[in-house]
Amino acid sequence: MTRLNINNINPHVVEAKYAVRGELAVKSEEYRAKLRRGDKDLPFSQVVSANIGNPQQLDQKPITFFRQVLSLLENPKLLEHEDVLLNSLGYKPDVLERAKKLLHDVGSVGAYSASAGVPAIKESIAKFLEARDGFPADPAHIYLSAGASSAVNTLLHIICAAPNSGVLVPIPQYPLYTASLSVLNATCVPYYLNEHEHWGTSHDAIKEAYTAAKANGTDVRAIVIINPGNPTGASLPEEDVKSVLEFAAEEKLVVLADEVYQTNVFIGTFHSFRQTLHKLQQEDPEKYGDVELASMHSVSKGMVGECGHRGGYFDLVGFDKEVEEQIYKFVSITLCAPVIGQCLVEMMVNPPKPGDPSWELYNEEYSGIFNRLRERANALYETFLGMDGVECGKPQGSMYLFPTVHVPPKAAEEAKREGRTPDEFYCMRMLEATGVCVVPGSGFGQKEGTLHFRTTFLAPGTEWVGAIRKFHNEFMEKYR
Ligand SMILES: Cc1ncc(COP(=O)(O)O)c(C=O)c1O
Repeated sequence: MTRLNINNINPHVVEAKYAVRGELAVKSEEYRAKLRRGDKDLPFSQVVSANIGNPQQLDQKPITFFRQVLSLLENPKLLEHEDVLLNSLGYKPDVLERAKKLLHDVGSVGAYSASAGVPAIKESIAKFLEARDGFPADPAHIYLSAGASSAVNTLLHIICAAPNSGVLVPIPQYPLYTASLSVLNATCVPYYLNEHEHWGTSHDAIKEAYTAAKANGTDVRAIVIINPGNPTGASLPEEDVKSVLEFAAEEKLVVLADEVYQTNVFIGTFHSFRQTLHKLQQEDPEKYGDVELASMHSVSKGMVGECGHRGGYFDLVGFDKEVEEQIYKFVSITLCAPVIGQCLVEMMVNPPKPGDPSWELYNEEYSGIFNRLRERANALYETFLGMDGVECGKPQGSMYLFPTVHVPPKAAEEAKREGRTPDEFYCMRMLEATGVCVVPGSGFGQKEGTLHFRTTFLAPGTEWVGAIRKFHNEFMEKYR
């Protein structure tokens, strides 16, 4: 008997659910291993991991400028051979300059940095925020993190003080939020997004969820917004951003703006919560003057796609000084965010500019990735439109489509016999038939009576899309 067993470890960890890497993902990895061993029994020849926004696991190539600089940061001795770098390896002079600057700022990437991040990198982020939003930012309120996940972990640890501490979370949502709240033994207060309005936020739905939770004794303290959305792909209009901020101001809620997909926008423009809050503060300082906002960004998504490097940051507006001291202490406990990840954040917020030697290639790579993502999103959307029993909104942003699927009653009955929800059953059959791994809508939460699945549009080629269509038609035929 081991000292630890499933019944005596932290029950809140056991309770937490994280479907993105759940049963289907595990099974897909088994299939991948089988194919690698040369197994010919499976009805497909490749596994497509459309379950997770992991750009470089699929087709996305790293941006050359970023990796060239990183190579010099990891091995500064290469800088002793500038002629080789410039004349034989095609490194441009601005790559060398940036590497020298970052090495000057961080010392060695193998050393811990200051707890909240390298000061010069925080200054770079502040400049980026000012240029993006038109309002100055203070590096003192910027904290580097090991991806946005670690930022969320920090902020929720600070916010959740007791089991009745409540956080409004959009449904459907990226399950980091519900899982973290489970682990913290705090209360998730779900509010539904409006599928019929491109998965936008609805003031009434937020208010209803808030009022009901309050009436049940929940001390609702914060609201999470994911924009652009995961899993929904929604890109929020400014009106929605304003309306959330207005509600937060009225009810004194901390706003947690998850903006990791801010460059993955195909329809409309990205409206940051930070910019919108500052505009509202100008218009009505009394109402908006002390709204507390934490915004998060990451190197994981967008055209950077460097999620394995674990880089991100959060920036705070309006937080109490003593609370910020505790946030600082909390991040100090884990010493610092990975320094290489911090350097990637610096390059993400301060990439080559027109006229710089690396600009042309950077721009070509960046736009190429963006355009390919948009093309794939639209091709997948067109396929869904042509599938009987599937409904899907136009791709607006992020890396996902979240179609509704109308599973026939006979399939739902069989799902029940298997102890699965109908969407899990559908996704499992899809994986078995095609090797394409998607995530059932129940992993993100969905309105009762509706069924969805989430797929990324990162995978290249059209073969897997054709395989989904074929599977779907056969599934519908079988259970009609
Ligand atoms: C909405 C959202 N927030 C946060 C994350 C985590 O990102 P990171 O890799 O920066 O921790 C993800 C990852 O998929 C995400 O989709």
